[in-house]
Amino acid sequence: MSEFIDRFVDVVAPVIGFDNGLEMVEARGAWLTDATGKQYLDFGTGISVTNCGHNHPRIVAAAHEQIDRVWHGGGTFRYDSYVSAAEQLVSVAPEPIDMFFFMNSGAEAVEAAVKLARHTTGRQGVVVFRGGFHGRTMGSVSYTTSSVKYRTGYHPLLPSVFVAPFPHPFREGLSEEESTSRALHELRETLRHVVAPGDIACFLIEPVQGEGGYYPAPAAFLDELRDVADRHGILIIADEVQTGFGRTGAWWGVDHYDLRPDIIAIGKAIANGLPLSAVGSSKDLFGKWPPGVHGTTFGGNAVACAAAVEVVNVVNQALPSVPALSEQAFAALRGVQAKHPTVGDVRGLGLMIGVELVNGEGLPDANALEFVRSHLLETGLIFHPCGPDHNIIRFIPPLVISADDLDRGVALIDDAVGAWESR
Ligand SMILES: Cc1ncc(COP(=O)(O)O)c(C=O)c1O
Repeated sequence: MSEFIDRFVDVVAPVIGFDNGLEMVEARGAWLTDATGKQYLDFGTGISVTNCGHNHPRIVAAAHEQIDRVWHGGGTFRYDSYVSAAEQLVSVAPEPIDMFFFMNSGAEAVEAAVKLARHTTGRQGVVVFRGGFHGRTMGSVSYTTSSVKYRTGYHPLLPSVFVAPFPHPFREGLSEEESTSRALHELRETLRHVVAPGDIACFLIEPVQGEGGYYPAPAAFLDELRDVADRHGILIIADEVQTGFGRTGAWWGVDHYDLRPDIIAIGKAIANGLPLSAVGSSKDLFGKWPPGVHGTTFGGNAVACAAAVEVVNVVNQALPSVPALSEQAFAALRGVQAKHPTVGDVRGLGLMIGVELVNGEGLPDANALEFVRSHLLETGLIFHPCGPDHNIIRFIPPLVISADDLDRGVALIDDAVGAWESR
């Protein structure tokens, strides 16, 4: 162990996990440099946070400009970067979202979104979808079912949370159509046997399940959810914490569908690494949530908001290149899949791509993933895995990555999977 890790384990609680023992000292664009001077391609982006690349010069300049003026108000006064960030978000928000307020983290945004749904509908029930990830605070972990590890040891969780299936065609060995129809059947049965639609405040859903394994929702599934919600006065909260800010090749995950969400929870890439999150909804719904019934000390920090203003500009500029980068990545990764039986599936949207590693029986292979991960650390690429079985490479480079670096990253993955198969 290095002296750095010795210091770390001496004073940092072990519960906070890190993917590796590296100490990074510099980060620029898609590249990281560790304390020995070695460089790594960053395909982890801090779990889809640095979508604009590390230390993007325009975002850094916007934060610098604000840091010399006002940092913090905590609800005791207003400042321009707060309203400018909200205006920027409204300019790109999916319909019918036309208002925002700011929090600090994704979990906090999800919790606030559910509070908004409960307060304004006067109902308590929350329906979530198996495999979803919504955070780790007591409320948000009650909505999280991406892996049982997040829930173990913390019961009782929040009551009146009902878990319905989400289509996972690859893992179920079904076509998308079959998997969707099975999930919808189970949802109908849940509403018939377990909770009456009139007791449900909201459906809480990720348009593309992230932590749970990079599964895009089938359009037919979201269509029916909207239909059920409309018939019964249920609100739909889209958790866009991971899918937002261009990650899927559109501004929001819901932009790939006809789904009009009533509420969105956003975070992660919103300030390219400064802590910030937000909840968006319509003026109509927010008008039913009176001042003071929810709040925050740090949410909407002035420097984070100034960064967020520039993030919107940078994402707007980067987005037109994402479809081509996505096509390039899918083509290259499918080439890797064709060569290596360990790659069972390549799926996702835009630059939110899951590469699922399996064994000879087609079952999740966490050993392959760990091997590939260590091999890539040697050869210079960082990624963060996902899936309940810890066997999926989360392929989430920055949106501003060059085509050459994208190819370089896929070649390193190809090489690492090849090394696993010929070990
Ligand atoms: C979809 C989704 N929702 C919520 C969260 C929680 O965000 P945070 O870790 O900022 O609390 C995450 C984090 O990974 C996420 O991916």
